[in-house]
Amino acid sequence: MPDNLITRAKKLFTPALAFHTDIIVKKAQGLYVEAADGKRYMDFSSGLATTNIGHCPPEVIKAVKRQLDEIIHSGCIFRYHSEIEFAEKLKEITPGKLDMFFFSNSGAEAVEGAIKLARFVTKRQGIIAYTGAFHGRTMGAVSLTASTAKYRQNYHPLLPSIFRAPYPYCYRCFLGQNPDTCSMDCFGYLKKMLRHEINPDETAAVIIEPVLGEGGYAVPPLNYLKELRKLCAEYGILLIADEIQTGFGRTGKWFACEHFGIVPDIMTIAKGIASGFPLSAVVSTKTIMFKWPPGAHGTTFGGNPVSCAAGIATIETIVKHGLLENASRVGDYALKRLIGMHKKYPVMGDVRGLGLMIGIEFVKHVPSGIKTGKDKSPDREFLKKVLNKCHKNGLILIECGIDKNIIRFMPPLITTMEEMEKALEIFEKAMVKTLS
Ligand SMILES: Cc1ncc(COP(=O)(O)O)c(C=O)c1O
Repeated sequence: MPDNLITRAKKLFTPALAFHTDIIVKKAQGLYVEAADGKRYMDFSSGLATTNIGHCPPEVIKAVKRQLDEIIHSGCIFRYHSEIEFAEKLKEITPGKLDMFFFSNSGAEAVEGAIKLARFVTKRQGIIAYTGAFHGRTMGAVSLTASTAKYRQNYHPLLPSIFRAPYPYCYRCFLGQNPDTCSMDCFGYLKKMLRHEINPDETAAVIIEPVLGEGGYAVPPLNYLKELRKLCAEYGILLIADEIQTGFGRTGKWFACEHFGIVPDIMTIAKGIASGFPLSAVVSTKTIMFKWPPGAHGTTFGGNPVSCAAGIATIETIVKHGLLENASRVGDYALKRLIGMHKKYPVMGDVRGLGLMIGIEFVKHVPSGIKTGKDKSPDREFLKKVLNKCHKNGLILIECGIDKNIIRFMPPLITTMEEMEKALEIFEKAMVKTLS
C-alpha cells in the first residue's frame, strides 16, 4: 500500500526535509515517472533540475554498470580513468580558460569549495552575494543564500563578511524601480557597496546565479552580467558563477553565462552533471587553481568513479542527440506559447526564461472596472490549485520564489515538441478551471 510507505517514511525522516509530492515511484524512465498506483506522470521538475537527459538514461546505466566492475571508490588514494576522462570532457565544454577542477558531491559542497578557493587565492575575506540567491544549505552556502530568511532562521551567526547586493530581478525590483525607466540602479547600488560597505581590495568574490533559480527564475538584463564581469576584473575580485541549476544544458547552452557573453573566474556545477549520481565541481583557471596548494581543500567521496562514468555518458548523450539545440527549440516554443497565455490571463503576472528554465509568476489580478492594471501581489493559493490539477492530470510541476507563487517549467532536455505541447495544454486547462 503506497499510503503505508508514506506513513513509514514520516516516522523515519525529519520533517525538515520537505517533499514536493507524496508520489511513490515504481519506475522512472526518460520524461516519465510511473507511480506505485500505476499512474503515469510527465516529470517537468527533472528531479529538481537534475535529470537533464531524463530519468535512468540507458547510456548512463550502461556506463555505470561497466564502472561497477572496475572500481567504485578511491578516497583520493588511487587515480582512475573515469575521473580523468570526465575532467577532459568537461574541459571541452566549460567556457574560456576554465579548465581545472575540484570534484565534490553536492551543489552546496561546490559552493563551499568556491568560496574557500576565492578567499585563499585573493587573501581577501569579503564575499558579495545577492538578495534572492540560493546557493545551498550547509553553513557557508546558507550564509550566501537569501532566497528566504526561513532557510537562515535560527542558524545565526552565519559566515561573517558576506555582503548583500540586490539581484537584478526586474519584475520585482528590490529597489522598487520600473524596468522601463530604470538604468540598472541595482548595478549602481553594487558599486556603492564597494565604497560604503567593503573596499574592493578586501573583496574576494561576487557570487551570482546567471539566472536566479530557487529565488524566482528571473533572467537578469544582459548588461548587468557584462558590467559585473568588467567591475570584478577592474578590482581583482573573483566572479563566481553558480551554474548548479542553470548548467548542463538547462538554458539551451552548456552554461547560462554563455548567453551573456561572459566567462567567470570560478564556476560551480552540480545537479545535471551526472544525471542524478552525486557529483559536483568547482571549476576555475589554471592560474587560480595552481594557487591552491595540496591540502588546502579535500574530500573522501568527491569525484566518485561511478558518478564520473555517469558524467561522461551524460555529456556524450547531450552531444550525440543534439540536446542543447532541442532544449532551445522546445524552450523557445514553450516561452512563446506561455507569453500568448500571459496576454490572455491576467493572473499570469510574468513569464520569463531561457531554454528549458521558464518561470510563470501568478499574481492577484484586479477585476477590470474597479482598477486597471495588474496587482502584483503574489497568488500562492492560485498556484497551489493549478499545481494540484496538473498533478492530477499527470504533469509534475513545482514552484519557487519567496512567496511560492512561481511555477517552474524545467523538463529534461529530451522533451519533444509534442510532449511540451501536451504539458502546455494540461497547464492551460488547469489554469482555466481554477479561474472558473
Ligand atoms: C543555484 C544553486 N546552487 C546551489 C544549490 C545547492 O545544491 P545541493 O542541493 O546539491 O547542495 C542549488 C540547489 O538547488 C542551486 O539551485
